[in-house]
Amino acid sequence: MNLKQMAGIEAAKYVKDGMIVGLGTGSTAKFMVDEIGRRVKEEGLSIVGVTTSKETERQAQELGIPLKGIDEVPYVDLTIDGADEISEDFQGIKGGGAALLFEKIVATYSKQCIWIVDESKLVKKLGKFPLPVEVIPYGSQQLVHLFEEKGFAPILRTTPAGDILVTDGGHYIIDLHLEEIADPMTLGAYLDQLVGVVEHGLFLNIVSTVIVGGEDGPKTINVPA
Ligand code: 5RP
Repeated sequence: MNLKQMAGIEAAKYVKDGMIVGLGTGSTAKFMVDEIGRRVKEEGLSIVGVTTSKETERQAQELGIPLKGIDEVPYVDLTIDGADEISEDFQGIKGGGAALLFEKIVATYSKQCIWIVDESKLVKKLGKFPLPVEVIPYGSQQLVHLFEEKGFAPILRTTPAGDILVTDGGHYIIDLHLEEIADPMTLGAYLDQLVGVVEHGLFLNIVSTVIVGGEDGPKTINVPA
């Protein structure tokens, strides 16, 4: 079985009747949403989903998963999402699929977060994967220049057709090619206070469980509190 699919199916077992479930975005999350859709249809699982992107919303609607917006629920019981990198101390980079803003909002209001990945996403330190920074279009070139001066090797994300990529929130993404992030907390705090930055892809102290798809089967890691 595909390792991403293995992690997605394993994570869907954590979903119980009556839960409000955050549905992540990306190729791994897609398998999890498929499995939840199957359980809704075949097992009569009764949940409400809160999606993190238009892409996941479309998929969940097609599968018949009942949905509500993040502002229509009091909280989210459990969010299951993919990740681009997870460090040894369980900090993460997300946003490779350009959904980081809505993903972080849903994760923030979730009681529990599970990340589903294949083994390739586990790293010693974060940073090989370019760090996405979601920015307001107005003034975005100024931020690109600022990041260049800082040595962050920024690249404004484009679509395969070569147009500037626009997120579901109507923003741009600047990917920072940092190679290694020595201190994610300090970098996150720096990015948080920049004018024009809406959010960044450092997901710090957010995940409670990591499910890794591997050749020997799915491995579940409970993150120490
Ligand atoms: C989207 C994300 C994804 O969860 C992340 O990019 C992992 O994607 P995939 O499962 O396709 O490898 O953060 O914004």
